Amino acid sequence: MKAVFTVAAEPDAEALERGRLLFAGPCGFVKGVVAMDGLPPADRVEVCFAGRSNVGKSSLINALTGRKALARASNTPGRTQEINFFALGPDPQTARYLVDLPGYGFAEAPKPVVEKWQALLRAYLAGRPTLRRAFVLIDARHGIKPPDEDIMGLLDRSAVTFQALLTKADKIAASALAATIEAVNAGLTKHPAAFPEIVVTSSETGAGLPTLRAIVAGV
Ligand code: GTP
Ligand code: MG
Repeated sequence: MKAVFTVAAEPDAEALERGRLLFAGPCGFVKGVVAMDGLPPADRVEVCFAGRSNVGKSSLINALTGRKALARASNTPGRTQEINFFALGPDPQTARYLVDLPGYGFAEAPKPVVEKWQALLRAYLAGRPTLRRAFVLIDARHGIKPPDEDIMGLLDRSAVTFQALLTKADKIAASALAATIEAVNAGLTKHPAAFPEIVVTSSETGAGLPTLRAIVAGV
C-alpha cells in the first residue's frame, strides 16, 4: 500500500535557488517577545519553529541562515524563553519572519517561568494570523512524544498547517532513521493540519537545509 505521508522530495532547481537566495540575503534579529501584545505587526509571511526543549530549534535557524549565533542555542533544555523574531530578506514581497519559539516539555527553569512561556507559546500558535506554517521539530532518535501530540492537537484545532521536521539526523544510523520516519509518518496521519511531507534535517551536516530553505521561500 502506498504511504500517504512521505519524505519531501528534493525541490526543483528553481525552487532551490529561490530558497538559497532568500537565505543568502540580509537576516537580522527583530525582537524577543514575552507577551502577545509585544508581537511585531503581522505584515508579512511568518514561519515558526516549535518543538520540545533541546530538539534543535535555535540551531536549525542558525544553520538555515548560515549565522552561527543568530539564535542562542545550548545544551540546557529551556534556553530559549521568549518568542524570538528574525527578519529575512530585503524585498517586502518575499520577506519572511522566522520565529524561534521556547520549547515545550521538560525545561531547566523555574516552574512559574515555564508555565508563563508555555501559555504564550500556545496563544501564539493558536492566534497569529500571518503564521503560514509551523515547523514541528522532532528528534530523529526519539520520534513523536506526548508533548508533541499535544501541540499538534492545538495546531489541528487552530487550523495552522504544520510540517514535521526530524532533527539531529546525524546522530543515528540509517536503519534507525528509516524506522523513525515510518513511525512519525504513521503518527501524522491522525492530524488534519499536518502537511503530508516530512523533512529530515541535521544542523551539523546541513542535511535537508536546501530543501527547507526552498519550502520557506515557497510558502
Ligand atoms: P530550547 O531553546 O531549550 O527549547 O532548545 P532548542 O530546541 O532551541 O535546541 P538548541 O538549538 O539549543 O540545541 C540543543 C542542543 O542540541 C545543542 O547542544 C545543539 O548543539 C544540539 N544540536 C542541535 N541540532 C543538532 C544537530 O542537527 N546535530 C547534532 N549532533 N546536535 C544538534
Ligand atoms: Mg532554543
